[in-house]
Amino acid sequence: MKTVSEFRKSKSKEKISIVTCYDYWSARIIDESDIDAALVGDSLAMVIHGYETTVNADIDLMALHTSAVKRGITNKLIIADMPFLAHRRGKDKLIENAGKLIKAGAQALKIEGGDQDTIDSIRYLIDSGIPVMGHLGLTPQSVHKFGGFKLRGKEKEEADFIIESAGKLEAAGCFGIVLEMVPSQIAKEVTEQISIPTIGIGAGMYMDGQVLVLHDMLGFNKDFSPKFLRKYMDGYSSIMDAVNAYSRDVKNGNFPNKNESY
Ligand code: KIV
Ligand code: NA
Repeated sequence: MKTVSEFRKSKSKEKISIVTCYDYWSARIIDESDIDAALVGDSLAMVIHGYETTVNADIDLMALHTSAVKRGITNKLIIADMPFLAHRRGKDKLIENAGKLIKAGAQALKIEGGDQDTIDSIRYLIDSGIPVMGHLGLTPQSVHKFGGFKLRGKEKEEADFIIESAGKLEAAGCFGIVLEMVPSQIAKEVTEQISIPTIGIGAGMYMDGQVLVLHDMLGFNKDFSPKFLRKYMDGYSSIMDAVNAYSRDVKNGNFPNKNESY
């Protein structure tokens, strides 16, 4: 999948698979894989840079990673996250920040939130020629407001906000919406109500597609095992075994051998 119009057309035809991608080497793999789209998520602040939340990602960091991803991807849709507060400093700053990510190689942006200011910013970007994906439910940039990375939409008031915001994001012109950590019945309602694809993470099975953080689904972080996460590899153990085997060979004088020498 290379374009947002292909993305839109997938609704109720074929499920959409997305993983995060932060760098060149993983971009090369994803480019040749069956994955539909790569998300340069601001989760890179946590996964790559070790911060506790995503609020430490800023526009230049996002642009740097987006450009690395762009150099490795020729065949997939690249979506980049607008980082914390990047759309909240007026229209000039909004356009400047969005422009940085698009020039770095993103074809589309993802923006968290369903409040009126965010919807207005999204509409302005779309009118400016930049495709935007929405993001509702657990919007991690609001972690301090929520008091943690918890399920959103259990109470009726917040469930209603998610459902109403989804309709507004569609009306503003979004080409898709991520629902993160939402009860599957609420996510199902959203999926049935809107005509653009819904992408879930911790949002159950009634979605038009799914997104996972690449490092999480590869099992690189042995301490992160939430219920929604399916690990497709025990990356932590595989890497540990490999680096220890190398270290052992070096210490034993086993590496390099004759064939590995000039
Ligand atoms: O930053 C990210 O990785 C994301 C996905 C989890 C949706 O926004
Ligand atoms: Na994100």
